[in-house]
Amino acid sequence: MSGRQLWRGGHLVTLAQAQGWGLVPDGALLTEGGQIRWVGPLADLPQDLRVGLDAEVDLQGALVTPGLIDPHTHLVYGGERSAEFEMRLQGASYEDIARAGGGIRSTVAATRAADEASLRASALARARALMDEGLTTLEVKSGYGLSLDDEARCLRVARSLSELGITVRTTYLGAHALPPEFDGRPDDYVDAVCAWMPTLKDAGLIDAVDAFCERIAFSPQQTRRVFETARRLGLPVKLHAEQLSDQGGAALAADFQALSCDHLEYLSDGGIQAMAAAGTVAVLLPGAFYFLRETKLPPVEALRRAGVPIALATDHNPGSSPGLSLLLMMNMACTFFRMTPEEALRGLTVHSARALGLPDRGQLVAGQRADFCVWDAAHPRELAYYFGRNPRRATVLQGRAHEP
Ligand code: NIG
Ligand code: FE
Repeated sequence: MSGRQLWRGGHLVTLAQAQGWGLVPDGALLTEGGQIRWVGPLADLPQDLRVGLDAEVDLQGALVTPGLIDPHTHLVYGGERSAEFEMRLQGASYEDIARAGGGIRSTVAATRAADEASLRASALARARALMDEGLTTLEVKSGYGLSLDDEARCLRVARSLSELGITVRTTYLGAHALPPEFDGRPDDYVDAVCAWMPTLKDAGLIDAVDAFCERIAFSPQQTRRVFETARRLGLPVKLHAEQLSDQGGAALAADFQALSCDHLEYLSDGGIQAMAAAGTVAVLLPGAFYFLRETKLPPVEALRRAGVPIALATDHNPGSSPGLSLLLMMNMACTFFRMTPEEALRGLTVHSARALGLPDRGQLVAGQRADFCVWDAAHPRELAYYFGRNPRRATVLQGRAHEP
């Protein structure tokens, strides 16, 4: 929280309307109590708001965007999987490796073996890397613990990342993979995932519930049971859907008014219509698409035509997307998915806020949370244009500047 502060001389990218950048040259933002109180051309700032300022900052013509929101990460885990990367380069597929007991399961073993302090240290370093490129809100999933205690531990570590000043939302992904102690008993494991949910919720560790609906993970029927439990507990759901094959997961998730369906390379027309009707956000993950050398593109044009909001995320995880660059996700969304730079920025701001059920952020408009980024750029399309160059000058979290 902060007193009344005027940020003037910025080239504002407000995203205030459904279309267009919403540019305000020589713009001003008035922040108070952690929120944006007023936005517009400095010349229009009402006289009564110019008095009683606690501070005034000259942004010197820098570009200002809403803070970046990563709505899909698996940030808390032990170990790494570079050996699998080599195996995949030699021809093994992601599914082959998972079926042979590697993949997610190998990270589960490494996560269970790690102590809480080392899980925290590695997760903090990853969160800081994301913040370096303008992260202000972060979603983190569990799913590498797969026992009540280990899932709780990972969710606690995720929650603790909010000490960095960012908002952290935690998602329970118990239905990520089958842990070895449940081999041959997937339905018993789904029962356990459901049984743990109230305990984790009561401990204040869950904002949403996710599942991996896929032929190497959980069936639509099993996913439905997880979602029914979430609904009984009043928890919103999201889904890893149609990443490697079309399981009809998106339509199932839409039946439960899912906040988002994520991945979606194999999404069908029926899935798109169901998502549009339910107001479910499509979260596309260009890092996983790239790193798994996927060739099937998510149906971006059909999603646009149906009016489904498209968000982007890093999907940071050790198996399918070990990257930590939000700006590179914007660039890849444009080069691979033919999204426009404006769509890419919306994908990491206003649409990613919606994918997390957070309507209080993602645009520079009065009443929203004062989370924004200051960039050394003349035009917002530059954020999607460069890769390997970070033009961030500063991040403002709830009205307070955090220098790089
Ligand atoms: O989003 N698809 C499932 N989960 C992760 C990958 C997890 C892993 O390989 O460790 C994903 O791609
Ligand atoms: Fe994921």
